[in-house]
Amino acid sequence: MAIATRTAVCVPAAGRGERLGAGTPKALRLVGGVPMLVHSVRAMSRVRSVDLVIVAAPANQVDHVRSLLAGTVEDAAVTVVAGGDTRQESVARALIALPADVTTVLVHDAARPLVPAEVVERVISAVIAGSPAVVPVLPMVDTIKAVDAEGVVVATPDRAFLRAVQTPQGFSRDVLQRAHAAADVDDVTDDSGLVEALGIHVSTVLGHEEAFKITRPLDLVLAEAIVAQRRARGVLA
Ligand code: C5P
Repeated sequence: MAIATRTAVCVPAAGRGERLGAGTPKALRLVGGVPMLVHSVRAMSRVRSVDLVIVAAPANQVDHVRSLLAGTVEDAAVTVVAGGDTRQESVARALIALPADVTTVLVHDAARPLVPAEVVERVISAVIAGSPAVVPVLPMVDTIKAVDAEGVVVATPDRAFLRAVQTPQGFSRDVLQRAHAAADVDDVTDDSGLVEALGIHVSTVLGHEEAFKITRPLDLVLAEAIVAQRRARGVLA
């Protein structure tokens, strides 16, 4: 009997993670002894309305990622496909694997392993309530400057109107597929930007500090501390 799937999450996980230091692909680096990707897929699959997670793995690690996830994720179906040379291409490849009956699609960076369930739920609820595209955001803490090619400041946008954007970003399926099909570039780092380019409204919901992206070595130190704290509270195995 076919399983009815309506909400799917695409997880681009094919990045090399060069800013984190050479070696293992970033999504397979350990946080609290568990690969980052396993944390991320569990964070998605634990949310009750998520039916399917599609992982875009490093092309030479598809079998390894499949077996890694087979034993560790139980709450939702998981499909693994080969990712591409850019994040955008990895997402596009995951979209090809979507079953016909999925209507809501989230895109979540494998590099944000500690996103709390409440953020995923806020995003899904907003899409189901009718927003074609939804991004979780936080206010900026730093003042942001725009600079020219020489590093000279050319503008200081008003911080009150700036937001840092996180994932998962949520979309109605047809909007996200149309946005990817219409893209005239191939390396955007933010799916909602492609939707904006179509002139479609992108709305925001509140993100969370713990949904930060692991990019630099210091981010790993913070992630280890959060995992230790959650284990001490008994909310993470
Ligand atoms: O490079 P960055 O950390 O911004 O990547 C964000 C997410 O996109 C990561 O989860 C990374 O694994 C993924 N990615 C991908 N394919 C690429 C490059 C990045 O799936 N070619």
